[in-house]
Amino acid sequence: MRTAQTPLIVANWKMHPKTLDAAADLFDAVKEQTVRIRGAHIVLCPPFVYLPELTAMYRGSRIAFGAQDAHWESTGSFTGEVSAAQLADLGADYVILGHSERRAMGETSETIARKAGAVLAAGLSPIICVGEDERDQDGAYLAAVRQEVTESIAGIGPKQLGRVILAYEPRWAIGKGADAALPGDELYAMVVLLRKIVTEMHDRAAAQRVRVLYGGSAEPANAGTLITRGGVDGLLVGHASLRAETFTELIRAAVRGTDT
Ligand code: PGA
Repeated sequence: MRTAQTPLIVANWKMHPKTLDAAADLFDAVKEQTVRIRGAHIVLCPPFVYLPELTAMYRGSRIAFGAQDAHWESTGSFTGEVSAAQLADLGADYVILGHSERRAMGETSETIARKAGAVLAAGLSPIICVGEDERDQDGAYLAAVRQEVTESIAGIGPKQLGRVILAYEPRWAIGKGADAALPGDELYAMVVLLRKIVTEMHDRAAAQRVRVLYGGSAEPANAGTLITRGGVDGLLVGHASLRAETFTELIRAAVRGTDT
C-alpha cells in the first residue's frame, strides 16, 4: 500500500488571464490567501509570457512554477517554440505535457515522450496528461488510456519515474463542474490501472514512484473526495484555479480530504 503524500495541486491557467497586470494580481491573491496553508505543494502554470515576471515577484518556496509545454530540443531553429532548458533558467520546476487541448491540435504521444525526455534532462518534472475522449460500455477507453501512457512515457528510465507525474484527465470531464467530474471510486480504479501499466513496463517499485494527479472539473466541492477516495497524489486544476478564493478553497479541501 502506498502511503498518502502531501497533495500536489497544479494550477493550469491555460491562456488566461488577458494581461500581465491581471496575472500579477491573480498571483498576488493566491500567494496571500494560501500563506497559512500547510501540507500542500502548490504549482502555478501560467502562460509562458508571464513566467519571468511572476517568478521574479516571488522569493519563497511554498509556490512552485510550471509551464504548459516545452520543445524537445534545448535550443535551435524552432520558430515559436520554447525549450525546457529556457524554462528551467526562468525558475520553472514543472512542465505540463500532452494536455488534451494540445493533443487536439495534433500533438502525438511520441512527441510527448521526446518532450518528457528533454524536460527531465533539464532537471524539471514533466506532468504528462493522458485520458480518454469518452467512456464506452465495452471498455475500449481503457485500451486508449493504456496506449497513451505506454507511448508517452516510453524511454523514461525507472529511476527517472520518481520525477514523472501522470495527470489522468478524462477529456469529457474537462471544463465542466464538480457534478461532471469522475466519481472518486471510479478514479481509484483508473489509478490502479495506471500503476499496473507502469509495473508492466518496469516494475512495482517504479510504478509506486510515479505520482498520479486527477484533472477534469476538480473544484472545492469534490477535491477532498478525489484525493481520499480516488487515491491520487494531487489535482490538475483548470477553471477553478483562475479565482484565488476558489483555488484556495480547493487546496484546503484537498489537504483536509473533505469537500467544501
Ligand atoms: P478544468 O481543466 O479543471 O477546467 O476541467 C483541467 C485541465 O484541463 O487541465
